[in-house]
Amino acid sequence: MPGNPSKFSNSEREARMLEKLAKNESIEIPDDMSDEYYDHLMNLMLQQADSELAGGFGYVPWIMKAPTTEEMLIVSNIVRDEVRHGRAMYRLLEDADFGVDDWVEKMDFGFRIEDDHFLGTQRAAADKRVNIFYYPIDSWADFVMFNFLMDRGAGHQLEDVKVSTYGPWRREIDRIFKEELTHIAHGDYWVKRLALDPSTKNEIQESLERWWPRVMAIFGRPNSRKNLRYRELGLKKRDNHEVRLTFAQEVTEKAEAWGLTMPKWIPEWERIPEDSVIPG
Ligand SMILES: [Fe+2]
Ligand SMILES: [Fe+2]
Repeated sequence: MPGNPSKFSNSEREARMLEKLAKNESIEIPDDMSDEYYDHLMNLMLQQADSELAGGFGYVPWIMKAPTTEEMLIVSNIVRDEVRHGRAMYRLLEDADFGVDDWVEKMDFGFRIEDDHFLGTQRAAADKRVNIFYYPIDSWADFVMFNFLMDRGAGHQLEDVKVSTYGPWRREIDRIFKEELTHIAHGDYWVKRLALDPSTKNEIQESLERWWPRVMAIFGRPNSRKNLRYRELGLKKRDNHEVRLTFAQEVTEKAEAWGLTMPKWIPEWERIPEDSVIPG
């Protein structure tokens, strides 16, 4: 990834950045970012931009396969929202002199992995989308479960951007956030409806079981050093695990109220490798 394009030296930029952070002033331009801040910021914004675009592309088939004409329009609008979110993020990257066209040209945002393969934290391709966007959406139950879980999970993560030290991103996030709330409401409506109907309850329960470990993996490990550094620079507000627990509690309350059973979740970092020998 190309680094900070500013003509000022890293120490000059870092001094200006620290002064602004100490005074609680926003960082606005690459001239006020240390190399480290710039790299972390590009990385975080690319993660969102690539996820928005890959997410939108994954929904495209569901415009045609939606169950009613009303739903065809709703899915079209969701696709449009996601492509707009992607574009809004790529524009921010362009404004920070990141070579967006070169980046996007090299990526295949339509790429998906086999449904039965669990990625965990292992990467599937060079783009920076969150891993959950590599799984295919194969049924209407999966589509609405994705709205219910992933749009909600993203919403919880975006809460931290609302107080980011990077001004342009913070100012962009409110509109994206409001649109994500409509996607979440679409998920809630459908998951509840499919859960309360005895003829579809099993299907939506199975979908919950399939997507739960994937969505719980999006938040990252507790107490990660990278997350701690993001917080020191004001690029994040909370520990990964704190965000995950807030999200999980909200999902559990809703799902259980609709008669669904929450799957048991074993964090990746607590799983014992199959070939390990436990002493004693
Ligand atoms: Fe979005
Ligand atoms: Fe969304």
